[in-house]
Amino acid sequence: MTAAQLWDRYRRYLCRCDELGLSLDISRMRFEDDFFDRMAPSMAKAYADMKALESGAIANPDEQRMVGHYWLRAPELAPSPEIRAAIEEAVVSIKTFVNEIHAGERRPEREALFTDVLLIGIGGSALGPQFIADALGEPRLDRMNMHFFDNTDPDGMDRVLQRIGERLSSTLCLIISKSGGTAETRNGMLVARKAYEDQGLSFAAHSVAITGAGSKLDKLASEEQWLARFPMWDWVGGRTSVMAAVGLLPAALQGIDIDELLEGAALCDRYTRSEDTFANPAALLALMWHFGCDGKGSKDMVLLPYKDRLVLFSRYLQQLIMESLGKAEDLDGERVEQGITVYGNKGSTDQHAYVQQLRDGVRNFFVTFVDVIQSGGEMVEVEPGVTSGDYLHGFLLGTRQALYESGRDSMTLSIDIVDEKRVGALIALFERAVGFYASLVNINAYHQPGVEAGKKAAAAVLSLRSRILDELGKSAQPRTAEQLAESLGALDQIELIHKQLEYLSANYPGVVAEAGSTPFDAAYSRV
Ligand code: PA5
Repeated sequence: MTAAQLWDRYRRYLCRCDELGLSLDISRMRFEDDFFDRMAPSMAKAYADMKALESGAIANPDEQRMVGHYWLRAPELAPSPEIRAAIEEAVVSIKTFVNEIHAGERRPEREALFTDVLLIGIGGSALGPQFIADALGEPRLDRMNMHFFDNTDPDGMDRVLQRIGERLSSTLCLIISKSGGTAETRNGMLVARKAYEDQGLSFAAHSVAITGAGSKLDKLASEEQWLARFPMWDWVGGRTSVMAAVGLLPAALQGIDIDELLEGAALCDRYTRSEDTFANPAALLALMWHFGCDGKGSKDMVLLPYKDRLVLFSRYLQQLIMESLGKAEDLDGERVEQGITVYGNKGSTDQHAYVQQLRDGVRNFFVTFVDVIQSGGEMVEVEPGVTSGDYLHGFLLGTRQALYESGRDSMTLSIDIVDEKRVGALIALFERAVGFYASLVNINAYHQPGVEAGKKAAAAVLSLRSRILDELGKSAQPRTAEQLAESLGALDQIELIHKQLEYLSANYPGVVAEAGSTPFDAAYSRV
């Protein structure tokens, strides 16, 4: 296309949401002129599905649940007065609690004021809060320092505790789990509990639970009289819970304006309810995903925000999109193996990593650039009349152009600034794009059977591990993996047994490995 044709295409398809300070440029996606007409019937269905979902239909049929994350920022749209009241009351109680913490009216056991927050959660119970904390944090201004346990890695948790150091006595612990039974989160809580107790501190006096009513975690927090409990509702999914207490409580503790966050999301929802597709950035995103990967996940989505503050946006979206869209079957039970692979980090950093391949290598992706118009930070001149921010912007435009010239598609999402309103809007925008895309490809975006399968598999591995330990304890005679598998009657699990023996001998002082002529002939005993 000539420069004049590209300029026309850019002007024709640019979707600008003025009040939101957000625009989406799809001109560098090479869809044909009739693409939108062809997709119009499917898009009409997507709008109808979304309307039904927002009105309280059972949009998650496998779990027989409503899908209510849009009500979190517009409680007046909730399908019942009870749900509306629950949302409004939760926001009021979050604000009251946070004011009391900041004012020192609720104090840690031994200190005058809580200074730090340790958030313990995983998946949807951590990624959103982590993204918001990093995108909107101001190290010099934040009301509290944020820390996260988002895994069951003892070394990882140790490093976080080292960073907290002596401030543990003034650290507020938020344990977040919708189900209240997730192993990683339970483990993180037990590690944190031990750290407090090692210092003679009561864990309960420093802890808050955010969980479903009646869950294991809820019962524990209530029995032990933790500082507070906040709700998770079954009509909000984990990965779309960031506008519930899951995201609002930690953000407010950090000093982030949660009203603005909610307002940005609500405003974006108002734009993205429009059935004028060209004025609806979520509809355009979903359609571009459909075009970009043939509605089959045939290409990956690379997310490239040119802004350090948005580095966790790619991780956050990776879960939101891949856990929602990565499904084996469609809503009619047909095997479809759907999904879109999402990865990314930030520009221009990634230009010195994988962008080489994007430009010259395998054509298996489309890019979503995120441009932040106002640079922020100090505009230091690095050359006469040129700032470092100018470079950042130049690199984005240059890469967009270079990719286009080498036949690679991209879109550019622009926001005026990274602030509460825009972060709320970005979250809402992609939540709805996921919902639209799910309708376009006819899948349930709101369940996660694969996650459940992983949890079951891990439980089976752990139970095998205790059987191995028991078996090792029965005889001092060193035995190979094969001999142990035979004694356990589990020859079909020989490989797992071998891997577990290697792990046990590296981590349990009582389990000893004697090297054999190959790694498979090593003999293990328990002393
Ligand atoms: O989006 C989801 O549902 C998951 O990613 C969950 O958030 C994750 O598995 C953690 O679950 P829970 O909050 O129940 O501990």
